[in-house]
Amino acid sequence: MNETEAFNRIKKLRSEIARLRKAYHVENAPNVTDEVYDSLTRELKELLKKYPKFEDKNAGENRVAGKPLDKFVKVKHQTRMLSLNDVFNEEELADWEKRINKLLGNQSSRLNYFCEVKFDGLAVSLIYEKGKFVRGATRGDGFIGEDITQNLKTINSIPLVLNFPYPEYLEVRGEAVMSKKTLEKLNLLNTKEGKILFANTRNAAAGSLRQLDPKLSAERKLDFFAYDIAENSSDKDLLRHSEKHKYLKSLGFPVDAHDAVCKNLKEVLGFVKKFEKIRPNFPYGTDGVVVSVDDLGLQDILGVVGKAPRYMAAFKYPAEKATTVVKDVKINVGRTGVLTPLAIFEPTLVAGSTVSKATLHNMDQIERLDLRIGDTVVIEKAGDVIPKVVEVLTRLRTGKEKKVKMPEDCPVCGSRVEKQKIAEKKEESVAYYCMNPKCAAKNERYLEHFVAAFEIYELGPKILRRFKDEGLITDAADIFALEKNDIENLERFGEKSAENIVAEIKNKKHISLGKFLWALGILHVGEETARDLAMHFGTLEKLISAAQGNISEIDSIENIGPAVLKSVSTFFNDKNNLKFIEKLKKNGVIVEKTEKRKAGKFTGLNFILTGTLSAMSREIAKEKILALGGKVVSSVSKNTSYVVAGEESGSKLTTAQKLGVKVLTEKEFLNLLS
Ligand code: IVH
Repeated sequence: MNETEAFNRIKKLRSEIARLRKAYHVENAPNVTDEVYDSLTRELKELLKKYPKFEDKNAGENRVAGKPLDKFVKVKHQTRMLSLNDVFNEEELADWEKRINKLLGNQSSRLNYFCEVKFDGLAVSLIYEKGKFVRGATRGDGFIGEDITQNLKTINSIPLVLNFPYPEYLEVRGEAVMSKKTLEKLNLLNTKEGKILFANTRNAAAGSLRQLDPKLSAERKLDFFAYDIAENSSDKDLLRHSEKHKYLKSLGFPVDAHDAVCKNLKEVLGFVKKFEKIRPNFPYGTDGVVVSVDDLGLQDILGVVGKAPRYMAAFKYPAEKATTVVKDVKINVGRTGVLTPLAIFEPTLVAGSTVSKATLHNMDQIERLDLRIGDTVVIEKAGDVIPKVVEVLTRLRTGKEKKVKMPEDCPVCGSRVEKQKIAEKKEESVAYYCMNPKCAAKNERYLEHFVAAFEIYELGPKILRRFKDEGLITDAADIFALEKNDIENLERFGEKSAENIVAEIKNKKHISLGKFLWALGILHVGEETARDLAMHFGTLEKLISAAQGNISEIDSIENIGPAVLKSVSTFFNDKNNLKFIEKLKKNGVIVEKTEKRKAGKFTGLNFILTGTLSAMSREIAKEKILALGGKVVSSVSKNTSYVVAGEESGSKLTTAQKLGVKVLTEKEFLNLLS
């Protein structure tokens, strides 16, 4: 990206971010997700770091949000409503602890933690006088919020009257939330009525509480969970955050049961990991775990900096949505000949792993999304599921985006492509197919043979089939361009197995010419013939140029008959095959040249190997003869120098004896070698 392009992108990002902020904070637009907003903001920040001259103090990203709406009555909070500092991984959590320990000095021996679920809803404050709910408010800017008492009264789980004994005055903090099920139903209804859909449970909860008419709010079926006490007039001695939770429960507040007192960070991380497993099936949207210093005395010592307490941290789970740019759309050909578009992205982090590719399934999908090359898209990766493109941010277009077109001819064999009903699917959907039954892309056995020749043991037939079905690879050359994140983002593939596969492929990029020719699967060219060709020509280039010109040189090689000659020359004159070889090289395959047969004590001699040798396989015996400058031939003639006869030698031995060719026993052969 050059400077002008960067500036244009910055302008586009700024205007889109400003639009999202306005929609979210002022217009109550429910379909804006924080993750998309965050992802675009991150890109903007990175660009501004690279091009600081485009910084602008007055730009939207430098302003704070969260002004209370004018429509509701404003209320001043007695105790400021704080927010939390986020930590995203183990190191950041450990850094947080280090800072705490430093401030606490020798008091830190009393340190332990309380972990609880971080709900993704709307923070509210509830005030109770003489045990009765009198007022409820939103957080607003932390100092001044909005009075939403009427709306909060419609939430069944908020007690209107407290259990006895209650304090004269109590202010409770907690989260108003909408369950995932309720959101699903609401969105279904909104779809039917053609209304805008809510992007997540938090927006749905916030949008519902911002309704001026409490009747509308009531229809939304919200819930509430209490997590803190801000004011308490009773002389009840609460010494720990965990005790506050117990006390809240005894007063009749719903308090979530997933919590734990932890002795150290190891236990805290254990809680984080445990809840991460529960989280997908948890009825409410959550975005992390709140970790607090449990001892309230220590909390007082630690205090608040800026908008957040030092004694709490929000351990955030990785965002499941992010934005990125589509660099290209590649068309892969599957086992059935189906053409599958694969989007190639600017790599981006989603749900903890890098994503650089995602299948677009078919043309319908591309049209539905209106996706073009160069577009900024939202990708989603929930839990263990394969990443997918869920939205195109068309407002970020520059006009240079390119539409995706299905090729008219198969990218592998060049045959006509036809639109057909999708073979494996019941519903009416169509896709583009290569109709050539002999198309190389349909040949699974070939792919298996290829990886076997390259000795890539990690890629068994099942895995190859999977890669093909996911649209990750068309041909064997694609294997060498696979990246760890392509594999680890597939369902049921872990990070470790992805690492192993990629490492193995990388290791096997160097191959001898003989093995390479064998891998190509040229008709009639088995492992031995491939080696003969390699021995003779030494390099692939020399063989290709002979096949394209002076074929008599191939003909002159011992053991190579007219059938091999024909198929070798046909193979290397087919431009698809040459393209495939180029692609292999481009993806890092290095074909090592074969040393021409060196002169040695066997130069000018040719051998026949027959029967079973006990000291070595015939393969090895052959290698040894070749290494000493000799040749190994397959049929006995007057010109044969020696027949090496192992156990159970058959007709070749008889012929040799008839023709008077010298026969060696295995022992004599070994003597000759040494
Ligand atoms: S503790 C000091 N506990 O997270 C203010 N907050 O990112 C934090 N939240 O505004 C209060 N679940 O809306 C706390 N169990 C929990 C929470 C929680 C969700 C929200 C709350 C707060 C935001 C900060």
